[in-house]
Amino acid sequence: MHKYFAKPLFLGKKIEFLPECHSTNEELLTRVRNGDDQEGFILYTDHQTKGKGQRGNVWLSESGQNLLFSVLLRPKKLQVKQSHFLNLIAGLAVCHVLEQHFDLHAELKWPNDVYVNDLKIAGILVETILEGSSVDDAIIGIGLNVNQSHFALPTATSIKQLVGKPTDREELLETIISTLEAQYLFLKSEAFDKILSAYYGRMRWRGEIHQFRDSEGVFDGEIIGIDDTGRLLVKTSHALKRFDVKQIEFLH
Ligand code: BTN
Repeated sequence: MHKYFAKPLFLGKKIEFLPECHSTNEELLTRVRNGDDQEGFILYTDHQTKGKGQRGNVWLSESGQNLLFSVLLRPKKLQVKQSHFLNLIAGLAVCHVLEQHFDLHAELKWPNDVYVNDLKIAGILVETILEGSSVDDAIIGIGLNVNQSHFALPTATSIKQLVGKPTDREELLETIISTLEAQYLFLKSEAFDKILSAYYGRMRWRGEIHQFRDSEGVFDGEIIGIDDTGRLLVKTSHALKRFDVKQIEFLH
């Protein structure tokens, strides 16, 4: 196992592998609460017994086949209302690596599910600890399907299914971490517009008419982007609607 990563500057200088845990996000949260809060600390595992997904879902992953990890960021000046940018940079980092290293065209389903060929290949769960109006600690949890060959869900895929051969997971982890670090440095330099336009360039269904469901029922609409707090903006024939993560379902 890696003791530290050579490529990134500060992410992954402290790294720990757990053969099994409930959830790397939960474990990292516990470490932070106990004062173990060095920026860039990474926990990764082969198996999660209670992997957490968005919207209270579970994240399922075959033991020893995929990447399951969490990274601690401490983006001192980031305001709570800008915290969705953490989702954007994490999604962009995974997409860049899939494209540059595997020649896979990856898209981001709002807020940051990573899709290739209309199949989900990675999920990202960002959890924050706030101090006043800014973000003190941010835990970026990423589950990327790497070498898993079969999925219970027909909507899931892995790198192996797409490229036909297995990938070294620790090398891949190091590559993702250095790409995430580059994105994070962008964020720290407040390049919000650049990050947003890169996100829009990859945003799945943007500019197309699709079917969605909200609390009022099924409707057709066009995703036009996100607002300044990260809510999804969908234009219908008669309104511009805004949604938080739990308020909208993407149908087809
Ligand atoms: C989603 O798409 O619903 C988000 C899934 C996030 C899964 C990752 S796996 C590593 C980290 N630990 C967790 O418990 N969840 C995230």
